[in-house]
Amino acid sequence: MYDNQKFEEEIAAVDLNAPAPQDEHTRELYYIAKLKNIISKRSAEAGRPLTACTVTFGCQMNARDSEKLSGTLSRAGFVLTDSENADFVIFNTCTVRDNADQRTFGHLGRISHLKKQNPRMKVAVCGCMMQEQGNVDRIHKSVDLIFGTHNIYRFAEYLFEVYDTDEKITQIWNRSDQIVESQPTERKYPYKSGINIMFGCDNYCSYCIVPYVRGRERSREPVDILREVEMLAADGVKEVMLLGQNVNSYGRGLADPISFAALLREVAQVDGIGRVRFMTPHPKDLSDELIEVVRDTPNIARHIHLPLQSGSDRILKKMNRHYTKEQYIALAQKIRDSIEDVSITTDIIVGFPGETEEDVNDTIDVIERVGFDNAYTFIYSPRRGTPAARMEDQVPEEKVHEGFDRVLATVQHSAKERSMRLQGRVMEALIEEPNAQKEGYLTARLSNNMIVHVPGDISLIGTFRPVLLKECRGFYYFGELQ
Ligand code: SAH
Ligand code: SF4
Ligand code: F3S
Repeated sequence: MYDNQKFEEEIAAVDLNAPAPQDEHTRELYYIAKLKNIISKRSAEAGRPLTACTVTFGCQMNARDSEKLSGTLSRAGFVLTDSENADFVIFNTCTVRDNADQRTFGHLGRISHLKKQNPRMKVAVCGCMMQEQGNVDRIHKSVDLIFGTHNIYRFAEYLFEVYDTDEKITQIWNRSDQIVESQPTERKYPYKSGINIMFGCDNYCSYCIVPYVRGRERSREPVDILREVEMLAADGVKEVMLLGQNVNSYGRGLADPISFAALLREVAQVDGIGRVRFMTPHPKDLSDELIEVVRDTPNIARHIHLPLQSGSDRILKKMNRHYTKEQYIALAQKIRDSIEDVSITTDIIVGFPGETEEDVNDTIDVIERVGFDNAYTFIYSPRRGTPAARMEDQVPEEKVHEGFDRVLATVQHSAKERSMRLQGRVMEALIEEPNAQKEGYLTARLSNNMIVHVPGDISLIGTFRPVLLKECRGFYYFGELQ
């Protein structure tokens, strides 16, 4: 775990002439210290500080990993920038659907032009896409550094080697045995942070590539998580989001197993933490204990993201999801009955192999009966190596679109109805950022994850305020600070 001040002191104390240490944390400090020397020399040659940019695709877990990449870059002496026209650019990739891959290829294509104009520029690619050999083969000639998800904690070492040798480096591991979480971090938001509580996934939903690129499920020790939350709170963080591919199975395999609900309760008790969120619970094993902890703990967000994927029993079975349509609806009902003002959001896939109009009707039936507060709807994307990609009855794209549009329309209707119910209420919101479109307005987030725009001064950012929900605009509100 990362302690800013301590880290600086430890880097300063590194013996650069000693051989590389074996312990991962000391090894990392060693390479950051060595890197610092090189980057400072290169900056002197350039006559200006070298700049670095981290570009992130994919889920919140990737976003959190990127904060570590940025932390290492910043400690090594780079000036961080949001522009891809930088001296060092790293892409942290996602491969969950084909369009995620295409976005990365698009960025890499554009960056090759910038690279020609800036001979100092180096490009790195890491993350889930790099765990697929085909992707590495496709890009390795045009980038300087490639690594994967299992060895992200060796970033400082690889970066040092790239600058020390000016050679290209590719380092992909196919598994990780340890959890190394001691990297420095550079947070995107001062007032909120994600925290990875576990890694990998063992669920093997038949369409999903995550278990193949992220490896077996591993939980972090609760004491480490709590210490990280305490440190974040001390650093001004008001809201934390506990992250895992299926948080319900948190704690399995630990020497002292603990349930996710118990961890959540402890995190919510940390001084200074105004709100706790979590993502993602799998519907197959969401416990009554979890529902009770959310119900009884006011600073746990009134929001459950509960991925449905499909409402058809036949498709759910082929997806390997381990629940039925009626079980899902009963669970959603139990959550609604137990937790006041809770919002339930979901993920839906349309166009899974063999999906018929009937199956889509089942999905629509669930949306209508549960009344989702919001949903991400995806078109099924075959992923190489997954069982679903080998199924014979792939649905042609033009047929998928019809079903997709029907699902989307139902989701939008449901989301609007749910939001409108809150008209006129006063609710607590975390003020997050200035509204990019509307001058003088701030964007805030309610406990149920809904967005509300309010007139106000930027000095309020990072504080919780009561807000009157005045005008519903479908998914979001315009409101007033109270
Ligand atoms: N672990 C989380 C989700 C991870 S991926 C969970 O189980 O809910 C986020 C979402 O991407 C999934 O919920 C699913 O809806 C979607 N998804 C995953 N693989 C996909 C694929 N091959 N095609 C389309 N959508 C996919
Ligand atoms: Fe993918 Fe299923 Fe694991 Fe989620 S639970 S990451 S959808 S395999
Ligand atoms: Fe994408 Fe990897 Fe997350 S595939 S969704 S970035 S775990």
